[in-house]
Amino acid sequence: MALWGGRFATGPDESVAKLSRSVHFDWRLAPYDVRVNIAHVAGLKRAGILNESDAASITHALKELGEEITTGVFTYNDTDEDVHSAIERGLSAKLGPLGGAFRAGRSRNDLVVADFKLYLIDHLLQISQEVAELIVVINTKAKSEIETLAPGFTHLQHAQPILFGHELAKHSHALLRDLDRLKDWQTRNSISPIGAGALAGSALVPNPEITAAELAFGGVARNSIDVVSDRDFVAEALFDLAMIGVHLSRIGEEFTIWNTQEFSWVTLDDAFSTGSSIMPQKKNPDIAELARGKAGRFIGNLTAMMTTLKGLAFAYNRDLQEDKEPIFDSIEQLLVLLPAVRGMIATATFNRDRIGSQVSTGHALATEIADFLVLGGTPFAAAHEISGKAVALAQTLGVDVHELSDEQLLQVHPGLTSDLRAKLSARAAVESRVSISGTSTKSVSAQLAGLEEKIRTYSSFIEGEQKRFSGMMSA
Ligand code: ARG
Repeated sequence: MALWGGRFATGPDESVAKLSRSVHFDWRLAPYDVRVNIAHVAGLKRAGILNESDAASITHALKELGEEITTGVFTYNDTDEDVHSAIERGLSAKLGPLGGAFRAGRSRNDLVVADFKLYLIDHLLQISQEVAELIVVINTKAKSEIETLAPGFTHLQHAQPILFGHELAKHSHALLRDLDRLKDWQTRNSISPIGAGALAGSALVPNPEITAAELAFGGVARNSIDVVSDRDFVAEALFDLAMIGVHLSRIGEEFTIWNTQEFSWVTLDDAFSTGSSIMPQKKNPDIAELARGKAGRFIGNLTAMMTTLKGLAFAYNRDLQEDKEPIFDSIEQLLVLLPAVRGMIATATFNRDRIGSQVSTGHALATEIADFLVLGGTPFAAAHEISGKAVALAQTLGVDVHELSDEQLLQVHPGLTSDLRAKLSARAAVESRVSISGTSTKSVSAQLAGLEEKIRTYSSFIEGEQKRFSGMMSA
């Protein structure tokens, strides 16, 4: 069904109908469209545009239609242009001419923004919940690896010893920022467009604040031209999702490396690995690789939206219909990816002996020598130089720097006394790093406790918002 046509002598050419059609993807907005229409009908009743009994009939029919959409009894057909036209067709089938009465005082331009925002609030809460559950799994693993010593890397070269729990928990911190961004997205973008009409505002709905509150929005837009043309909320959400994708890609890369024969740091569960069609012995980390690979797609979706918006004239232009498929894709892909990554991590076994076996190799304790000298009063630059000399000596002898004897260390510099020996172990190096973000057991325990506290706060926020949202949808 078309929502326009009075001034046209013919209907659109088949190629035009095909191009302009969005119902096959924007049908995802159907439940939200029904809910927004119910709130709008209440507004029209308050404004005296619809009488009590017409408003009640339309509301009843919309609720019925909503159920038919949920159960699949009602869906779009070949003649529907978009979700809004499909729903009006469904309503008109039930109510006759009254089915078109609820459209007064608004346009698809404000309607589509309202629907889309509700869809995003709903789905970003689902994503947030998935991210929160992933963080809980990572924290649990980090806790069980709090005693495991591991080489820490820079440039993929051994740098300094760390706790493996510290290594794992870094991902929780990154993902917590993602949760924070999603929460922040909601605070900023939970603004109702209803009352904006096509672009100029509405003469027929005097109290859009009430409609906004009924739809659980945090407020009403103050510029009708801006709010029907604004897709910052889509671009922002796409960035937030792309960032989650990038974080997952870094986890993916790490697990892929740790899973190589050369590393053998991690054993993946059979249920979270895949085989090869030709090489019977293969067990591949495909989940990790897909986590790495899908990031490209998430970034592409963000780029698509930004490019559509660049230089776009105000107010609504049909270009804006291109706003939906990229983010539907990012959301749906993440909702598939996040549980798989969570399962891969939850079921992974870390090979502690192997991880710890090379913790001090590659002269990873050289910084301890410099720090020892600094604590004895040597300026750091000189201490760095002396430690470097010790490394050079160790290298010519074919050992690691911590394997030099007390005599050899004294030969390098008289300040390298036998007191240094106690510092020249991976454990001592780790436990000395007591700064708030550091890798000592004490620091990491406090960090993990902090993470747990934060995740509890986010989880109860998400749960509260989900309840509020589903309450609004079923009202
Ligand atoms: N399907 C359209 C979209 O997603 C709805 C808005 C149509 N508005 C219009 N003025 N043609 O953008």
